[in-house]
Parts: sequence; C-alpha cells; structure tokens
Amino acid sequence: MTIPVIIDCDPGHDDVFALWLAAGHPALDLVAVTTVGGNVPLEHTSRNARIALTVAGVTDVPVAAGADGPLVRQLQTAEWIHGENGLGGPELPEPTVPLDARTATELIADTLMASAEPVAIVATGPITNVAVLLRDRPELAERIREIVWMGGSTDRGNVTPYTEFNAWVDPEALDLVVRSGMRFTMVGLNVTHRALVTAAVRERIAAVGTATAAFGEELFEFFCRTNDEVFGMPDGPLHDPVAVAVLADPGCVGLVRTRLDVELSGAETAGATSVDLDGMLGREPNAWVATQIDVDRFWAGVEASIARLS
Ligand code: RIB
Ligand code: CA
Repeated sequence: MTIPVIIDCDPGHDDVFALWLAAGHPALDLVAVTTVGGNVPLEHTSRNARIALTVAGVTDVPVAAGADGPLVRQLQTAEWIHGENGLGGPELPEPTVPLDARTATELIADTLMASAEPVAIVATGPITNVAVLLRDRPELAERIREIVWMGGSTDRGNVTPYTEFNAWVDPEALDLVVRSGMRFTMVGLNVTHRALVTAAVRERIAAVGTATAAFGEELFEFFCRTNDEVFGMPDGPLHDPVAVAVLADPGCVGLVRTRLDVELSGAETAGATSVDLDGMLGREPNAWVATQIDVDRFWAGVEASIARLS
C-alpha cells in the first residue's frame, strides 16, 4: 500500500532530489507539490519545482505556489549555496509542467479532501505553507497523516551557530506547526550532514545513465562546490531527501520521541530548535526527531528511485 505524499519545497538542489525520491519510490505516491520562498524567491522555487518534475518526466503531479515569505519576518534567501536562480549549474530547460492556478493552501486542501486516506506532508523548506494551512483550514488536520520536515538540528546550525536555515527563515511557522498537535518529525542537520555527496555517490548516481541522473550530476557539481566554498564541505550534504526517506523506508532513518521547542525571541538564537533529548525540562514529548541514518540504505533508495524516472 503506497503512502500518498505532498512535497512542500523550496528548490534548491537538495529539494530536487527530495522530489525525485518521492516521485520514484515504490512506497510513495506523490500527489501534489507546493512551493515556498526559501532558498531563493518564490518565482524561482516554483519554476524550479516544475523543472525538476519536467526533467524526470513526472507530468501528472500538480504544482502550486504558496507563501512568498515567512509569516511575520522578511524572507532571507540562500543564493550563496544554490545560485541566483536556485538551481545553479545545469542549463535549465523550459518546464512543461504548468503552474497550477490554485494557491498552495487550495491545492493541499483539495488534495486532502480528494484522498481516500490521510496524506503525509513532507516539507523541505521554511514550513510557512504548512503553518498557513493549519491556521486557516484547521478542519483539514484530521486528513493529514503526519508532517515530516527537513530542518532544525539537535546540535549546531548552518546559518548562525545554533539555527538551521529552514527554521531560521520562519521560526513562527515552525512553532505553530509543532504546537498543532499533528504527528511531527524533525529531520535535522545532525542527521542530514551524514548524507554526503561523495565521489562514490556521484559515480553511483551517474551510472544510472538517464537524463535525470545526468541533470542530477550537474546539480551535484555546483552544490558540492558551493558547500565546499561556504562550509568547507566538498561532499555536499544532501539534506532534503532524508526527510522523504523517513516515509519511504522507515528503517533507514532512526527516530526518537522527544521534546522539541522553538526559540522565537533570542537575539542570536531565533529559530533554534531546542531538542530535549535527555528530558532535562520534564516537558511532555511532542515530536519525533531523527538521530540515526543508514547511509548506504539511503543512497540505495535514492539511486533506485532515480532509476525509475525518465
Ligand atoms: O539547511 C538546509 C535546508 O535549507 C535544506 O532544505 C536546503 O534546501 C535549504 O532549504
Ligand atoms: Ca530545501
């Protein structure tokens, strides 16, 4: 039985692989894609999501644009990693996948109401769209299986010492979603920093030999270069597909039930994800948090899924 899944994303190189893993994995049924301002402004993330699906030959999944910025803060973007257009590296084809006329909230709502079973939402950018849905359409919460989010960290950040980019862009949205009571899973840098695009991984994906794989290699080349320049990480961490793997192959990513709180007011720490792994605060557990990953199993899933695309 496949799991219906909506990917809410801000492509972004790693978001593309999250889309491909969701579209190609036999355990998942990608039913909709929504986009958010994040790595780059919304016009680029929306076009890039359409390009990612076009390249992979996935033409039957609707794509709708959502929030162009956070709930209350100003959008801050990440061109330093993803380039001006958000998919630096390859020459980008014209997308043949259209932009749906609906907003992200409308598309998600229609998708939830049309589904015979609850739908999982995997968010791989600032979680603004999910927060807007839960705020504006609370009656639909019962139709959401769970929310899995790439973001946060149980230790250090990647934008400031203690904040990860997706959480840092829209901490208020993250706080709203965590407090919603939905089943929520955080897949943070503490795990995604082990999903490294090594030379062996690049060879493995390139050997798939398809147009999608070739486009992926061009993305890898740029992504690894910028991660090397910015973070000294020449084997770029491919964050977002790890969140998809939580659903696609549950044994691949180890989770613990724990307490997650979001810092909103810290002058230096707004967006920090306070994960009380040792139960120091005595608060009720409210989230699943990724702490382990079987890296070989993860890449095998990515490779096999890409091989099922064009
Ligand atoms: O911090 C990494 C996250 O921020 C990833 O989702 C990346 O695509 C950016 O959105
Ligand atoms: Ca992302």
